[in-house]
Amino acid sequence: MANHTLTTVPDHVAIIMDGNGRWANARGLPRGAGHRKGIETVREIVRAAGEAGVRYLTLYAFSSENWRRPEDEISDLLGLMKAFIRRDLADLHRENVRICIIGDRSNLQSDILPLLIEAEETTRNNTALTLVIAFNYGSRDEIVRAMKSLAQEVAQGGLRPEEIDSRLIDARLDTGGIPDPDLIIRTSGEERLSNFLLWQAAYSELMFVPEYWPDFNRDLFLAALERFAARDRRFGGLSSSNRVASSK
Ligand code: FPP
Repeated sequence: MANHTLTTVPDHVAIIMDGNGRWANARGLPRGAGHRKGIETVREIVRAAGEAGVRYLTLYAFSSENWRRPEDEISDLLGLMKAFIRRDLADLHRENVRICIIGDRSNLQSDILPLLIEAEETTRNNTALTLVIAFNYGSRDEIVRAMKSLAQEVAQGGLRPEEIDSRLIDARLDTGGIPDPDLIIRTSGEERLSNFLLWQAAYSELMFVPEYWPDFNRDLFLAALERFAARDRRFGGLSSSNRVASSK
């Protein structure tokens, strides 16, 4: 295990866990084997994030577009999600992890929704890492749902259009109350956001790593945090060195 000393730890890391299928293909295995191995990586990264002092970890587990996959793969992914909650909830609760689910809950299978709710309810008061699981999640869909809810409030007279600002929109998204991600990591070498946290990613640092998700591990995660610590985040302003120079 590498010895990493981090100067700046991101408060919120969000991950697009990509490459399970290609990992399996490369080994002549069915895609489901990649997803199963991916769950082991999930366990390792949740622990690593908590130990590193990350406060929020968001994982893109199932997108609203994943319904376009073959039926057997969808059922594999849903089955893994259910198995993960059944098997890991007690451990996560013991480790003081709080679970939050983001994504569209309407029309979810009747056996999965109660599990997601149970995970949230059980861990509601936990104070260590917050594990945000994006499930049946699509950023545009999330924004549309938030806009509809604001429009309804305006139509009912509870809100004036001029009162709508970015704080109100923030609060109405599934991620209301969760800070924006400081760092978004995507594995597998693909370099896009794929409808993940589009509003929330306004000032996120993006990092694309070549490893497939099942090959991602604690050391690679800590190396990503180190690269993050070396970046100069300006949020539209000036870098700290320029700020000193221009104030002279
Ligand atoms: C992308 O790989 C990965 C997914 C679509 C699902 C990720 C899900 C898990 C790791 C398991 C469930 C997660 C939790 C938090 C319990 P891909 O299939 O798109 O890979 P490919 O691009 O190589 O085909």
